[in-house]
Amino acid sequence: MGDTCSTDASPPDTDASNVPTVPNLNELMQQLKLSDNRIQQIADSMRQALKTDDLDLVKKCLDEVVSLKLYKNMWEETLICSRRPKVNKQFGYCQLDYSSVKSLVDRLQKSGCKKILSLGSGLGFTEALVEAVSKEVGHPIKVVCTDPQTSHFSKEEYLHTFVNEVHVLDHEAALKKYSDVDALFMLWPGYCEPWSVAAVRTARQLGIKTVVYSGEWCGGCTGSDEMHEELEKYWEELEVISYPQWYGMHDRFVVYDLKADGDE
Ligand SMILES: C[S@@+](CC[C@H](N)C(=O)[O-])C[C@H]1O[C@@H](n2cnc3c(N)ncnc32)[C@H](O)[C@@H]1O
Repeated sequence: MGDTCSTDASPPDTDASNVPTVPNLNELMQQLKLSDNRIQQIADSMRQALKTDDLDLVKKCLDEVVSLKLYKNMWEETLICSRRPKVNKQFGYCQLDYSSVKSLVDRLQKSGCKKILSLGSGLGFTEALVEAVSKEVGHPIKVVCTDPQTSHFSKEEYLHTFVNEVHVLDHEAALKKYSDVDALFMLWPGYCEPWSVAAVRTARQLGIKTVVYSGEWCGGCTGSDEMHEELEKYWEELEVISYPQWYGMHDRFVVYDLKADGDE
């Protein structure tokens, strides 16, 4: 067999017709107009999908919203999704508006967080928005999503994640595998489920400096009393970031930093 490396190198292409041209103003205007139309199309599809409760289509539209960075244009629709009883579960329990995600990203940036581990992430919608907005502001944050996927959603539903991957891990396995993270997300951990306190304790032992919790205060419908006690004792509340709430709910993001003597 002969040498597979080609020695038939051609000179650089100097043909003027191959030199890329700079689009003129009209073309640029055309492109902008096209993207306006595309946004409109996606918004129309989303409204239609919401009307008919076509969850797959809603998901497809939201995927485009996230990947095309249309979340600012489409936040109203995103909020509608997160409020719809049949579809809200897919998109996570937090009803996020743009400014709350932006405030959270700003806070994480100030705390120097680049890699975050989300426990019990569900399908990772909030996490996808955090990644998208953080990229947009030039401070990309990676959120590793994990969930044991043993309950809460059907096998079918778990196929429709918003981030590239939700690793099938419970809190213990996730913290073991991703112990190098800067922060932990615990968004709406189940009421009275024992894993939430175990996770916060392990995070403290591992020296993870920041925990972002979303849910209600102690005595509310998220987390356990032991988890709230642990947070109060060893973690300092840095910032509370509010977002639109379900009727009768008092959930919000709370960003905690490990107290200086918290790792004793
Ligand atoms: C109320 S849902 C919240 C889902 C999502 N974070 C949100 O904000 O919508 C609680 C999640 O905790 C997960 N979960 C249950 N046991 C867990 C464990 N031992 N470790 C980590 N996550 C767990 C469930 O699978 C479920 O996705």
